[in-house]
Amino acid sequence: MSLHYLVIHGPNLNLLDTREPAVYGSDTLEDINRRLESWADKAGIDLRTIQSNHEGEIIDAIHQARGWAAGIVINPGAYTHYSYAIGDAIAGVALPTIEVHLSNIHAREGFRHRSVVATACRGQICGLGWLGYRLALEALTHIQEEEVDTPRA
Ligand code: DQA
Repeated sequence: MSLHYLVIHGPNLNLLDTREPAVYGSDTLEDINRRLESWADKAGIDLRTIQSNHEGEIIDAIHQARGWAAGIVINPGAYTHYSYAIGDAIAGVALPTIEVHLSNIHAREGFRHRSVVATACRGQICGLGWLGYRLALEALTHIQEEEVDTPRA
């Protein structure tokens, strides 16, 4: 049985490589997705990756994932810091979800230190660039395998 996961890239992440490369690196979003897909292929995982600049579209994708995905990796971009609606959607579908950020949000401006989606997520990875997504996918496979006793708050 193959595992199906959804990777969601939020607003402005389509601009990667030209957008503040000192902060976000010089990979394009396509580079990142290609690496994730190649990792997933080897691991026998089926990945669907989407990018959206629209809150409602992200919420719809989270809702739809309930029908087919075993877990979600999400980088909500700036929505991280104020979208209670995305946090509620994640809590609502109750799929294991890992929050990822390319940059270390805790080492940046004050408004980025707070994530309003974090309480709905199993964990958060930030500051590791594209590798964070791969590690998040790996974490989902472990959660799946063990239905783990992941420490929760
Ligand atoms: C980000 C961090 C957010 O604060 C920012 O608004 C982004 C990208 C990251 O991946 O580091 O758009 O989520």
